[in-house]
Amino acid sequence: MKINISSRDLSYDIIYEQGALAKVDKLIDTDRKTLILTDSGVPACYAETVAAHCREAYIVTIPQGEQSKCIDNYLLILKKMLSENFTRKDCVIAVGGGVCGDLAAFAASCYMRGIAFYNIPTTVLAMVDSSIGGKTAIDFEGVKNVVGSFYQPSAVIIDTDVLKTLDERQVNAGLAEAIKMAATSDAELFEFIEECKDYKAHLGEIIRRANEIKKKVVEEDPQEKGLRKVLNFGHTVGHAIEAAAKGELLHGECVAIGMMLMCSDEVKERLGKVLEKYALPTKCTFDIKDLISSMKHDKKASDSGVSCVFVDRIGSFEFRTMSWEELASIKA
Ligand SMILES: NC(=O)c1ccc[n+]([C@@H]2O[C@H](COP(=O)([O-])OP(=O)(O)OC[C@H]3O[C@@H](n4cnc5c(N)ncnc54)[C@H](O)[C@@H]3O)[C@@H](O)[C@H]2O)c1
Repeated sequence: MKINISSRDLSYDIIYEQGALAKVDKLIDTDRKTLILTDSGVPACYAETVAAHCREAYIVTIPQGEQSKCIDNYLLILKKMLSENFTRKDCVIAVGGGVCGDLAAFAASCYMRGIAFYNIPTTVLAMVDSSIGGKTAIDFEGVKNVVGSFYQPSAVIIDTDVLKTLDERQVNAGLAEAIKMAATSDAELFEFIEECKDYKAHLGEIIRRANEIKKKVVEEDPQEKGLRKVLNFGHTVGHAIEAAAKGELLHGECVAIGMMLMCSDEVKERLGKVLEKYALPTKCTFDIKDLISSMKHDKKASDSGVSCVFVDRIGSFEFRTMSWEELASIKA
């Protein structure tokens, strides 16, 4: 099964196939030099299986964790491609979560002004969100995602078999992003996630339906000039919480808390129950006033306040510019 993402100057498929890693050569062009980026936490067999189906593969394994999305590893990838004489006709494949995807895509976007990039996401977060939409980035001088580009993959391959090795906390953190998309844009999907008795059996469907939402958003607004900002629901405060938590909380967990601060009481009640069902936090334990200084670095911030996504009713949203005083008075 496939979903095609297309807008003015881009078109690529999201390919859904269990067991896809072992037939990657049937799905994409691997008859060329291929740099495969993975990390030390991703079972090595995934990148090795992909490599076995490429004509000439070079696996680069970086340490797991956000700290690897850095300039040193970006240079490592470029140096490897240069030393192996990669040309414009060759390609890069990410086999990992959002860290590998963002970094590999950024390197691919710069090498010879852009070579083909394929994403094989291995976390729920990467399948639901980061592998789609063409945002690439590295963190720099302690600032997250501050150096990057918009660069679309040539294809995204989603093989949910790889999620069997992902621990439950990571699965749930990824689901927070699907809950986010459903809360703003698809009341039926929200209800499905709310009612779902055995979510593991329906993970593939939840991912695909969340991808449908993201497809509509990125096709209409590929470069985040307007509508795409809806994907930031829960992120404005969420990013500040992530910085304050210093690695104790996963991104999706911070987004979960952030969403709870940006919705009506009615939504809070339903959303809170869903988040608890997936063992996601709902309460902000940090003083909101302390988070504000970090929010002032947000790309959407100005001297007077910051633009936030607010959900008044499940399946809908509005953009609200909130003053710093208003934010400081939010009840956790
Ligand atoms: N580009 C975008 O649009 C976008 C959107 C959202 C998030 N992001 C970025 O994504 C990153 C977070 O991504 P993430 O949550 O996937 O984190 P991650 O890439 O760090 O992966 C989480 C952990 O899971 C491990 N792992 C990955 N796949 C596994 C598997 N199948 N089995 C066992 N372990 C596995 C990894 O080794 C890592 O330790 C952040 O850097 C964030 O900025 C980007």
